[in-house]
Amino acid sequence: MKITIIGCGNMGGAIARGLAKSNFVAPADITVSNRGKEKLDLLKTYNPEVHTTTDNKAAVKDADIIVLAVKPWVLESVAIDIRNELDLPRQIIVSIVAGVTIERLASLFTSGDSIPAIFRAMPNTAIAIRQSMTLFTPYNAVPEQVDCIRAMLDSLGKSLLVDESLMEAGTALCSCGTAFAMRYMRAAVEGGVEMGFYPKDAQLVVEQTVKGAAELLLATGNHPEVEIDRVTTPGGITIKGLNEMEAAGFSTAVIRGLKASK
Ligand SMILES: NC(=O)c1ccc[n+]([C@@H]2O[C@H](COP(=O)([O-])OP(=O)(O)OC[C@H]3O[C@@H](n4cnc5c(N)ncnc54)[C@H](OP(=O)(O)O)[C@@H]3O)[C@@H](O)[C@H]2O)c1
Repeated sequence: MKITIIGCGNMGGAIARGLAKSNFVAPADITVSNRGKEKLDLLKTYNPEVHTTTDNKAAVKDADIIVLAVKPWVLESVAIDIRNELDLPRQIIVSIVAGVTIERLASLFTSGDSIPAIFRAMPNTAIAIRQSMTLFTPYNAVPEQVDCIRAMLDSLGKSLLVDESLMEAGTALCSCGTAFAMRYMRAAVEGGVEMGFYPKDAQLVVEQTVKGAAELLLATGNHPEVEIDRVTTPGGITIKGLNEMEAAGFSTAVIRGLKASK
């Protein structure tokens, strides 16, 4: 299995680093192509076994999976650059380019009778530490190809196959969601400092608390309210805090923010 990533920016570089650490593929079977050399050189210092190039055409030649990780406005020129080199539908195309639909991807990569197997995927920046939540939608893919891409994405965190109609909402939930969770955490750190903690200590406390809360839900499969019930003694301090936050519009603000992002 050979994987080529086009674009070695925040996301492409993180995917390359994550895959190089995973058991999904050997580092020597990863090729990363980028416009400039600087980021490729940095990647090489991280793992010298990963192949790097500034030639997109050469990069896609022997690939089984081609991950497109460029900005949306660059996608068309990249597609024009590589499409005559592709062996479709043997090669699978995975696009993480935000806002670009499967219909658009298919129109960029369909040539003659050969309809490509395309995946539209939406990871988040935690892919850098192989903790991404990645939503994906397949198009014209056989079950083995779906299983293969699911396994690749699962090696970088967790994945969920969704209908494309959910991709925008999913982007708000999982991609923008990282920033939303961080904003809660920033506020909690500031509250901790106001209550007397040193910033570093407050940050550690908040980080581990949020991580523990997420792990608790993942491990039990419980709805958040079930775990909230365990912390809220009648007449106790947690319910006082929760009610004060709700009076300030906490849940409404989160839902409104998500809908605005979508
Ligand atoms: N950031 C997120 O949270 C997130 C989440 C999900 C999806 N996405 C999507 O992921 C994509 C990449 O985002 P990013 O944050 O990684 O952007 P980025 O850091 O700007 O990376 C894009 C990379 O593409 C390279 N590039 C530009 N033109 C190229 C070409 N013709 N051939 C090969 N490489 C080329 C750039 O190289 P140079 O630096 O040398 O110009 C740059 O390294 C975007 O479409 C975005 O919508 C982002």
